[in-house]
Amino acid sequence: MEIIEWIGMIVVIYFGYLLVMECKVIVSGISNVQQIYGKGCWALVTGGTDGIGKGFCQEFAKQGVNVCIVARNKQKAENLVKELKKINDKPQYKIVVADFQKCLQENFFQNIYSEIKDLDIGLLINNVGVLTVGEFHKTSDIDQQNQIIINCIPVVFMTKYLLPMMKKRQRSGVINLSSLTGRFAYPYYQVYSATKAFNDYFTRSLQIEVENVDILSFRPGFVQTAMVKNQTDPLTVSTQQCVKAALLQLGNKDATAGHVKHQIQTFLLSLAEGKFMDTISPIFVKYLYKQKH
Ligand SMILES: NC(=O)c1ccc[n+]([C@@H]2O[C@H](COP(=O)([O-])OP(=O)(O)OC[C@H]3O[C@@H](n4cnc5c(N)ncnc54)[C@H](OP(=O)(O)O)[C@@H]3O)[C@@H](O)[C@H]2O)c1
Repeated sequence: MEIIEWIGMIVVIYFGYLLVMECKVIVSGISNVQQIYGKGCWALVTGGTDGIGKGFCQEFAKQGVNVCIVARNKQKAENLVKELKKINDKPQYKIVVADFQKCLQENFFQNIYSEIKDLDIGLLINNVGVLTVGEFHKTSDIDQQNQIIINCIPVVFMTKYLLPMMKKRQRSGVINLSSLTGRFAYPYYQVYSATKAFNDYFTRSLQIEVENVDILSFRPGFVQTAMVKNQTDPLTVSTQQCVKAALLQLGNKDATAGHVKHQIQTFLLSLAEGKFMDTISPIFVKYLYKQKH
């Protein structure tokens, strides 16, 4: 076979695989959390009051999983619990108020831990994150500082505090929110992209180290949330699509972009990685950035 035929065959197999995975999502619906991680278990979601985190809470409520929301805005969290109870009033819901911007303060994580240590936590979703976008030298110092703190510190310490109890369970899962922008260099999102690469490398290293806990580095592309001004275009997916794809991949993979659309974007970008990518990506992202700002 010619080299071009080999390449063609690999591309067809890859897309075939993605198609099968997507069909699996459609056919199987969604992984049953309680079946996999234990009946009556809790799912803890950081930054659960909006966007992808809220999507996780809604999915857990639908499945009857107990949900613990760690959020900075008590009122918003209470409103969400009312919403979740309308979806399903059988599970228990707990709110822990914590502003991760202050997570460098003494005893910050110990205080969260003391409120959750008696819950049987089967799933940890390290979701909280913020985005500062713009020409690097024009961005605010405080925004950049907060972005590094909020995107990097909670994932490390929430995992560090919860892992011992999760390891004692028969099976547990951790999903850490990285991003497509953590997989590829991303102009205008420079510091964000670096924090998401931090999330990805931290998660994948831990995944190799830790046994009997499913640990997933979740690297979606653009999801329709406030973080990206709720943009809806063919490249984006809804929070529901995003969350379902993540839960389906947990325990099957150590890293994923999740939804098939984002897997294809990742694949195409990886083909263009290197010099070509370095040349086209600033032009492409600059164009997108100018469209939106
Ligand atoms: N949207 C995307 O395209 C995309 C793509 C890839 C990865 N991600 C990652 O997915 C995660 C969630 O993003 P999203 O798009 O869902 O963001 P979002 O819609 O802006 O929601 C962020 C959530 O984090 C909470 N939060 C922010 N700062 C906080 C703080 N200091 N303390 C406590 N909670 C705080 C927010 O609380 P409030 O409700 O109080 O504001 C909100 O619940 C992030 O880690 C992000 O990097 C997003």
